[in-house]
Amino acid sequence: MLDVQQISVDGHTGTDTAEVVINLQGLRKRYDARTEVLQGIDLSIRRGERVALIGSNGSGKSTLLRCLVGLHAVTAGSVTTMGETFNSFPDRGQQRRLRARTGFVFQKHCLVRRRTALSNVVHGMFSEPGSWRGFAQSLAPEAWRIAALDALDAVNLSEKASDRADALSGGQQQRVAIARAIVRRPVLLIADEPAASLDPVSGRDVMLLFNTLSALHGITLIFTSHDMTHAREFADRIVALRAGRVFLDKPAASVSDTDLEAVFHVAGR
Ligand SMILES: Nc1ncnc2c1ncn2[C@@H]1O[C@H](COP(=O)(O)OP(=O)(O)OP(=O)(O)O)[C@@H](O)[C@H]1O
Ligand SMILES: [Mg+2]
Repeated sequence: MLDVQQISVDGHTGTDTAEVVINLQGLRKRYDARTEVLQGIDLSIRRGERVALIGSNGSGKSTLLRCLVGLHAVTAGSVTTMGETFNSFPDRGQQRRLRARTGFVFQKHCLVRRRTALSNVVHGMFSEPGSWRGFAQSLAPEAWRIAALDALDAVNLSEKASDRADALSGGQQQRVAIARAIVRRPVLLIADEPAASLDPVSGRDVMLLFNTLSALHGITLIFTSHDMTHAREFADRIVALRAGRVFLDKPAASVSDTDLEAVFHVAGR
């Protein structure tokens, strides 16, 4: 398993649970003149929190995740992520720092199919420029392999290290994608529908793995899901988007069925 020291990042000890990792003020995002997808989002997320972002199709969840780390430009408002504050777009230095300290897991895991599981994880070390590259280059090649094997071990997949990605099941591929995300020692783990393409057991395993990683290493986790059981069980807090705004923001344990009906309610149905 990756140990706590190995995964903690640049002076972040994980002891300050009050540290704000994300702070959004009046965030607005439009892709075109017609529709403003996000219409003034205020949101603050502390280190170590596990947040489920929910809402109907098209409510802006993926857009919000991308804006958080500067993968999409913000139309108005301000974003502070891991101490980097930007308005429309992070500058190049901020982009490097943000990407080096963020792990992404998407529904489509985007592995290199012809590479082995291990090679995909090692590749994750070099896919982002900046401080992570600096870190990786400070290690000998054997150390890269060990770090990647540790990450595969953390997701219970070390026995498949030499298998090609396209010879793995969907759930196993998703676990490789998680290993690739955590090998970069993230402070922040962003997962966009990580369990959506998985069977119920594999989906649960992936969510449990996120829980373990977050609990062990103090990683801040933000995931989107259409599975309300996952949102309630695997998040501390549920944030729902509706009509471009934060419609609900509550501790997961206190979100009722009535709350959820209101989030997904379509007028006239
Ligand atoms: N790259 C893009 N260019 C133009 N419009 C976009 C782009 N990405 C998303 N949109 C639009 O923004 C809106 C929000 O999309 P987004 O993908 O953020 O929703 P979502 O909540 O993640 O939905 P889902 O639950 O289906 O994944 C949609 O109307 C979508 O068509
Ligand atoms: Mg989405």
